[in-house]
Amino acid sequence: MNTEAVAAAAQALRAGKLVAIPTETVYGLAADAGNAEAVAAVYALKQRPADHPLIVHVSDLAQARRWADFNEQALALAHAFWPGPLTLIARLRAGMPDSACAGHATVGLRVPSHPVAQALLRQFEALGGLGVAAPSANRFGRISPTRAAHVLDDYGGEAPLILEGGESEVGLESTICDVSGEHPAVLRPGAITGAAMAAVLGLPALGGADADRPVVPGSLAAHYAPLTRLELLPAAQLPDRLQAVQAAGQRAAVYARQCPAGHHASHWIAMAGQPEALSRHLYDDLRRLDAMHVDVLLVEQPPADAAYSAINDRLGRARTGSMAIPDSSSARP
Ligand code: TXA
Ligand code: MG
Repeated sequence: MNTEAVAAAAQALRAGKLVAIPTETVYGLAADAGNAEAVAAVYALKQRPADHPLIVHVSDLAQARRWADFNEQALALAHAFWPGPLTLIARLRAGMPDSACAGHATVGLRVPSHPVAQALLRQFEALGGLGVAAPSANRFGRISPTRAAHVLDDYGGEAPLILEGGESEVGLESTICDVSGEHPAVLRPGAITGAAMAAVLGLPALGGADADRPVVPGSLAAHYAPLTRLELLPAAQLPDRLQAVQAAGQRAAVYARQCPAGHHASHWIAMAGQPEALSRHLYDDLRRLDAMHVDVLLVEQPPADAAYSAINDRLGRARTGSMAIPDSSSARP
């Protein structure tokens, strides 16, 4: 680990600057959560709507408890899954800074496991910082970055200081579990499954988002979107659909376990066969497919079982998001 870069990043954050930081899920666009101006700068750079709260990252549970009241269930989940890819939504303590909360009475808290993120948070806290607010470091609505290079791709000359941490191991955003009320609920699926959390809590299952809970941007139907139109279909239907697309004079790129017979391998990316590897590579693969500048991306629908639920969730939103772009070629920067 580059300890000088980590120290410089911690100091930059305390000085009110933005830093793109690695985590095990995706890269975050970080600011001092106690500095309202720095948090405002995150919203401005990311072009994120003001009513979408940011997750506050801290080094451990003790730090997290300075921010929020943890009930028994919250404590059990934190002990079981922190550090790791789980965000807990809990009630913000009186007197704590609320600029990351976008007007909600709750705060999203996460203790990342990535060694560089851990080192950064410890140094930041040693400098008197309370926590680091960080959304995923993509432009609003786009694919989250899992490598430092993705952050540069999104922001170009506007890119903040980037702390290098290699490829994010999990590759999809954290599971979000609301533990602010009586019944915990999964607001965003991720690597920590509802079943795993239910097992820890001794419950048959956890609920999902409902009308009484705040809508989170990760739950917007159109999100995590490539600029190219994306179609999701069962592997068996790929060859026919590919033929139809090509017969209509359009160019297609394929994301599937197998390259369809006769299709040019330069316009195919092999989809990983295991859920962990597929999660890890999904966003990088989608960015590479997008960069092929074809008319349509044909994506094999992964299996429906629980191990793929976060993947299927993100692919479904990517499809919807790509459809929302009227003309992909004109939307491209
Ligand atoms: O893995 C992750 O969670 C990454 C890394 C950087 O930690 N961060 C991330 O942040 O995905 P973002 O902002 O892209 O997504 C955070 C989600 C949003 O949907 C936001 O609305 C929700 O968390 N959220 C944050 N605070 C909340 C709160 N108090 N109540 C409800 N939802 C909240
Ligand atoms: Mg995001």
